[in-house]
Amino acid sequence: MTETEADLPRVGVFLCRCGTNIAGTVDIPRIAQYAEKIPGVAYVEQNLHTCSSEGISKIKEAIRNRKLERVVVAACTPRTHEPLFMAAVEEAGLNRYLFQMVNIREHDSWVHTGDKEAATEKAQHLVNMAVAKAINLEPETRREIEVTPSALVVGAGVSGMTAALSLADQGFQVYLVEKDAEPGGLVKDLHKLSPTDTKADMILAPMIEAVRTHKNVSLFTDSKVTGVNGFIGHFNVEITTGQNKLTTEVGTIIVATGAEPLSPEGYYQYGLHGIITQLELEKKLVDDTAVLPNQVSMIQCVGAMEEKGRAYCSRICCGVAIKNALEIKRRFPSTKVNILYRDLQTYGIEYEQLYRDSLEAGVSFINFDPHRPPEVSITTDGQLNLQVYDTLLGEEYTLEPGMIILSTPLTPREESKELAKILRVPLTPDGFFLEAHPKMRPMDFSSDGIYLCGTAHSPKNIPECISQALGAASRAAIPMKKGRIMAEATTAVLDPEKCVGCGACATACPFDAIIWGPLGTPKVIDAACKGCGVCTVECPVGAMQLRYFKDSQLTPAIDALLHPFPDEGAQERKPVILVMACKWCSYAAADFAGVMRLQYPASVRIVLVPCSGKVDFRHIYKGFMSGADGIIVAGCLKEQCHYVDGNIVAERRVEAAKKTLDALKIGGNRLEMFFCSAGMPRDFAEYMRDFTERIRKLGVASLENNQAFRSLDVKTLTEDAGDV
Ligand code: FES
Repeated sequence: MTETEADLPRVGVFLCRCGTNIAGTVDIPRIAQYAEKIPGVAYVEQNLHTCSSEGISKIKEAIRNRKLERVVVAACTPRTHEPLFMAAVEEAGLNRYLFQMVNIREHDSWVHTGDKEAATEKAQHLVNMAVAKAINLEPETRREIEVTPSALVVGAGVSGMTAALSLADQGFQVYLVEKDAEPGGLVKDLHKLSPTDTKADMILAPMIEAVRTHKNVSLFTDSKVTGVNGFIGHFNVEITTGQNKLTTEVGTIIVATGAEPLSPEGYYQYGLHGIITQLELEKKLVDDTAVLPNQVSMIQCVGAMEEKGRAYCSRICCGVAIKNALEIKRRFPSTKVNILYRDLQTYGIEYEQLYRDSLEAGVSFINFDPHRPPEVSITTDGQLNLQVYDTLLGEEYTLEPGMIILSTPLTPREESKELAKILRVPLTPDGFFLEAHPKMRPMDFSSDGIYLCGTAHSPKNIPECISQALGAASRAAIPMKKGRIMAEATTAVLDPEKCVGCGACATACPFDAIIWGPLGTPKVIDAACKGCGVCTVECPVGAMQLRYFKDSQLTPAIDALLHPFPDEGAQERKPVILVMACKWCSYAAADFAGVMRLQYPASVRIVLVPCSGKVDFRHIYKGFMSGADGIIVAGCLKEQCHYVDGNIVAERRVEAAKKTLDALKIGGNRLEMFFCSAGMPRDFAEYMRDFTERIRKLGVASLENNQAFRSLDVKTLTEDAGDV
């Protein structure tokens, strides 16, 4: 061991076989031999399942017995197991942030099953990266934050009232804010609720009464949330009612602003006499003396599942149509009801039963092709005429209904955009609120302390809204019940010695987490910082850093990931692709590509960053200098960045960096920005294959003689690098 090596912290490396999931493809004993030689590595262990209780015990034992100062686990995705290992490390007396996990399963053994040699070599690079980062990690301290035991619930429909009452019953003070004059939301306009056939009012009236009278609920109608500042435990909210403003502090926030049905102007001559929506039909049916014509036709998916425009299925419209068709048959047995549909979604036993009941009651279903939709016309004597081609029977029908009812999807409320800005939370491209993770955190926003439920999230039926509202209330209750939370330490940190006071960090922060301190220097509000790292990139002198992702940690990691091994001949080597993937959607897409065993070249190597907005030219430069031939900055889909707009900032930076690479004769086409959602593993794998092929055609990047590039002073480079 050299003198410098002796100064390095003692790193323990734990290699998981994951049964044969990893070991079936990656040569684990060879990785172990390799790891033993990495400077700083003091101990290497191979486990059958590192995450088992036996594996966890072995990590703890090794920390104590081998005096380990850093721990690396090479196993599956950190997205699921990192907290488990961090807790184990902490229990053994080591700071939890002196731990590093690297994914050699989803990002390696599962996506290169046909090339064991390449997968093993890639695993060596990945372990090398993790050790390099681990060596440079620093102990960090999680902060304890007190949590105010009160909540803001935005929206007093069924979801909002359910969440508010659940929290109020647990003893928390709730501020329930409703934009309309009355609580109740959309359900106010409904007649009966399926599948129980209960009158909507029977569910709504007791709820409204309860929120009006509960001692822990303060109901604000005709009101809006006009301002929110702060962080979990201490949100300062402003509620505006007419000219009056109330400001108060709450510990948590639940968004339950609901959705609204599409008004189908421009579809099927809506607006002409006798052509109405399901909601307008429900309003008619509330009146017991309502009269309907002898024939009624319903058209499904009006304005939904479009090739351009609203692409989603609203899920509930088929159930609503069947419920209303049954109600018509019950009250007007001689009325003919036909439902023109393209796909019928009656999921769940109760709704399946309703579908069968409707068949028995004589409702007829006609399947149409969306490329040959029904046509509505009106005769000179005012008769509605409906032309439809039945794809199942291959016959064209002409119907003469007295009424046409259009089933339209639920759409996001226009006000969602304003509220999303106030809360600094993302929306989907369709405009619904976007959860932190569709599987793991379906009721949370990525901002701690803010939760969501009901149709503000996506179209749902009432039982689903109530379930999700109860879930969101439970999520919000956890920190309030504990009274305090431990906030992650991955926040921005300023080196005041380096700071030049330009203010770029404060301007860049999407969460207003950086304010000006008394000495004219920025001050990071730790509890408000979400750890995206966008501010660190804007800092022209590297004074602002992100804990656990400092440049001094990320840069050696990139270098170790890419640096060719001595026996990797420069002439024969295949192009190496560096992917800097945000920890949310793009890293998850890569994980799911692994789960689905979607293959792509082993020369693709992924490094995790909190957000694509954390990547700056210095990382790109380091990537090329260390041996990358192509670089991808991978982030969430546009408008879906979990830190508001980090990916848009990243895209701008990538465009600027491409110009720099062109100017320096590296080639801007060696750098690309890739947007994806967690649900796009196929696109991820395909993109990796395509990009690798494009880079293969360009050949390996040869920087040896590019003095202009090699001598760049990257310390001073900002996104203006595009002008170089
Ligand atoms: Fe994925 Fe920002 S979190 S790009």
